[in-house]
Amino acid sequence: MTYLAAERGVRQFLDIGTGLPTADNTHEIAQRIAPDARIVYVDNDPIVLAHARTLLTGTRDGATDYIDADVHDPDAILRRAANTLDLDRPVAVMMLGILNFVLDTAEARDIVRRVMAAVPSGSFLVLTHPTFDPEVGGELQVPAMEFWNKNATPPITARSGTEIAAFFEGLELVEPGLVSCSRWRAASDSAVVVPQYGAVGVKP
Ligand SMILES: C[S@@+](CC[C@H](N)C(=O)[O-])C[C@H]1O[C@@H](n2cnc3c(N)ncnc32)[C@H](O)[C@@H]1O
Repeated sequence: MTYLAAERGVRQFLDIGTGLPTADNTHEIAQRIAPDARIVYVDNDPIVLAHARTLLTGTRDGATDYIDADVHDPDAILRRAANTLDLDRPVAVMMLGILNFVLDTAEARDIVRRVMAAVPSGSFLVLTHPTFDPEVGGELQVPAMEFWNKNATPPITARSGTEIAAFFEGLELVEPGLVSCSRWRAASDSAVVVPQYGAVGVKP
């Protein structure tokens, strides 16, 4: 967020799979740097919806909105996001921990393709995704994910680094590329590696 708002001048954010409000939500970080930033949150969890008011406390010059929608219907998300975002200007599309709930990889790729096709050159895709890849300690994640899938909903899936990199087809990866999330522009190499890949891509 800080990188995109401060270093790349992004002023519009579409945060799909918002999660429960916490400290430093997307709009708080963006609007601290650029008070005119516009943010649209998307989630389909009624509990997140119940807390959405916390996400709608934007600055006077900017805007925040919350859409109760399903990632499986990207066209509906884009249609409603256009009420707040100017889709002719660059948007940072944030898909943090959300595509792991789209179990079919071809469908997940299609969702990304459709959303990124709707935003102009200079837009970004920010993505994080859990993995079982041993290079980033993924084997530790296997029992946790099995436990989740037996006891909770919605079902979740991991993907390999190769599958996750493929979501960035047609985009240019920003340095350092696809890495363990904790290592993305980390202050030092000593950051603990987590079994979750993250990357940022820009639409040429
Ligand atoms: C793991 S949390 C990630 C939260 C936040 N983006 C983060 O990285 O901390 C995933 C979020 O995606 C939402 N979600 C799961 N399936 C979804 C779907 N089909 N459509 C929209 N949101 C969904 C969940 O309700 C949850 O808030």
